[in-house]
Amino acid sequence: MDKFYIKGGAKLDGEIEVYSAKNSVLALLAASILTDEKVVIHSCPKIGDVYSMIKILQYLGCKVEWQGDSIVIDSSQADKHDIPLQYGQEIRSSIFMLGSILARFKKAKAVFPGGCDIGLRPIDLHLKGLRELNVVVQEQGANIFCNGENARGKKIHLDFPSVGATENIMLASVLIKGKTTICNAAKEPEIVCLQDMLNKMGAKVSGAGTGMIEIEGVKKLSGTEFVPISDRIVAGTYIIAAAMTKGKVHIKNCRPNDLYSLTSKLNGVACDVLASDNDLLVKGYDRPQSVLTVETLPYPGFPTDLQAQMLALQTISQGTSVVVENIFETRFKHVGELIKMGAQIVVKDRYAIVRGVQKLYGCQVSAYDLRGGASLVLAGLVADGTTVVNNVRHIDRGYFQLEEALSSLGGCIKRV
Ligand code: UD1
Repeated sequence: MDKFYIKGGAKLDGEIEVYSAKNSVLALLAASILTDEKVVIHSCPKIGDVYSMIKILQYLGCKVEWQGDSIVIDSSQADKHDIPLQYGQEIRSSIFMLGSILARFKKAKAVFPGGCDIGLRPIDLHLKGLRELNVVVQEQGANIFCNGENARGKKIHLDFPSVGATENIMLASVLIKGKTTICNAAKEPEIVCLQDMLNKMGAKVSGAGTGMIEIEGVKKLSGTEFVPISDRIVAGTYIIAAAMTKGKVHIKNCRPNDLYSLTSKLNGVACDVLASDNDLLVKGYDRPQSVLTVETLPYPGFPTDLQAQMLALQTISQGTSVVVENIFETRFKHVGELIKMGAQIVVKDRYAIVRGVQKLYGCQVSAYDLRGGASLVLAGLVADGTTVVNNVRHIDRGYFQLEEALSSLGGCIKRV
């Protein structure tokens, strides 16, 4: 299994371009089976989660091929409506396929999904939403059987603005009779991106980006070509990397507005951040100051997917910081590894109290999940000596060749 060897101490310097958002591409791949015409999604990252989703599409009978960094999906011959256990448990987004398979075939069989081990991650909101659309849902052991012959639009209230449940209900309802309204919908930019592609295919979806999404069912969707939004979590990781290494990094093709919950905390405290329409320039300080509190929340709050990286920054900042994880119950697995490197952190339930230290020290650490793994890489970039990050496959699920991206900015990191 691959490892990263990181020699700490280099200041990151240079330009880097951000590719399309993993979480958008996954939802768009699920949407591609809503039509039997060709769908092309451009500028896709060649990362583990995308490959896993493609495997599911191929299992369903779709022809999927990469053309450069575009994915071309032809689902005209798709004839299966089930997601087998081995694929379903490989990736959590497999559950988004439930809504689109149902929309296409009027029936679906899925399994309870896998993915990062960061909390309980139930799918009750997904299933409740589908049941409210008059889909018959039967849970039998690890399997979920759905029949959508009599599905119809309905007003649905989500108890929590779940990203996945919002996307699944959007996908399930675009081709059914009547109007569906999702109240307390997730507002993430990736939801707006999904709406945009669905509308380009001929759907009638409005309100994405607000707490109320309306979907007027249509009879048929057509093929499309689409460029997804850029990855705000990857851009955020580069911002934090620049701040931690006292670097100067120009981040191109990012969406500064999507990152405001991060940059508003860091600007003037840990680094200078200069934003233009699609770019950010980040200049780190000699010693960043701690951010007093970081509390993860649904968008536009601080993203849980940047909590680990932000926590890594706090370990070397001057002062004390309190990091609160409100979204996932057990998303502090990186803390034990950062402590091995000399960080001073105390965790109590959903709170991590971080007292900044002058130095971290390189040692052997292990990635236990995707973003936690990225936080260890960031820590390695500033640690004294060499850090070895094991289980890099977790990081590869969401970052395309992170070691090459950081090396291009002057970081000393290699994959072994
Ligand atoms: C998506 C993102 C993930 C991000 C997360 C929160 C994708 C592929 N993944 O995950 O990167 O960290 O949003 O921004 O887009 N919940 C329930 N019942 C449900 C569904 C969710 O209780 O049926 C809970 C979860 O356990 C969690 C919270 O709601 O505590 C948020 O989860 P959700 O927004 O659904 O996250 P995902 O869609 O899985």
